[in-house]
Amino acid sequence: MRVFLGITGASGAPYAKGILDGLVGSGAEVGICASSAGIEVVATELYGDAALPREEVLSRFVGSAGEAVTVYDVQDWKSPYASGSARVDAYVVCPCSMSTVGTLASGAMTNLIHRAASVALKERRKLVLVPRETPLSSIHLRGLATLDEAGAVILFAAPGFYHGATSLQDLVDFVVARCLDQLGIDTSLVRRWGE
Ligand SMILES: Cc1cc2nc3c(=O)[nH]c(=O)nc-3n(C[C@H](O)[C@H](O)[C@H](O)COP(=O)(O)O)c2cc1C
Repeated sequence: MRVFLGITGASGAPYAKGILDGLVGSGAEVGICASSAGIEVVATELYGDAALPREEVLSRFVGSAGEAVTVYDVQDWKSPYASGSARVDAYVVCPCSMSTVGTLASGAMTNLIHRAASVALKERRKLVLVPRETPLSSIHLRGLATLDEAGAVILFAAPGFYHGATSLQDLVDFVVARCLDQLGIDTSLVRRWGE
């Protein structure tokens, strides 16, 4: 399975790390692209230093996943993920900022994350967006509705507490598991309701 993981500048870097680990653990080939705001959020939320250089952030984020992961620059239009002709099974943008939601809903593409998500929609492939913002304006809501109508799955970063969460990691795992479910990747991170 080949999956694109776009990381933008909304809060929620631990979800992105969990999704990457789940994908790599399942044997998927993963292409990663992070916006500059995405790098800042990962640096802040995972490593406690907003000023950490991009390369250091990405190297820590990918960690030992190594060979299964390729990191692309945000302006790398030669990346396979920039074209519908490349074979890609699914695309995830997590976390997904409202800036990226607005750009995608308008049809604009100013970086590889926008382009890859846009390719997913035009090729009718699986696209999972994990937005985080609160409260939401009508502009945000319209953008999200437009993307839903175009075929994206809007998987809000809204962890539930009903499965007996006792730690922050349980809440992160909840969102990660719902995202992996969307990609058809088996996970035992969270006990399933009724089982
Ligand atoms: C620490 C931090 C947290 C942020 N959290 C959010 C957020 O939760 N949701 C959001 O839509 N934007 C958030 N932003 C603002 C976006 O990063 C900003 O709008 C940026 O332009 C998004 O660009 P991108 O979509 O290309 O990453 C945050 C920024 C920083 C630095």
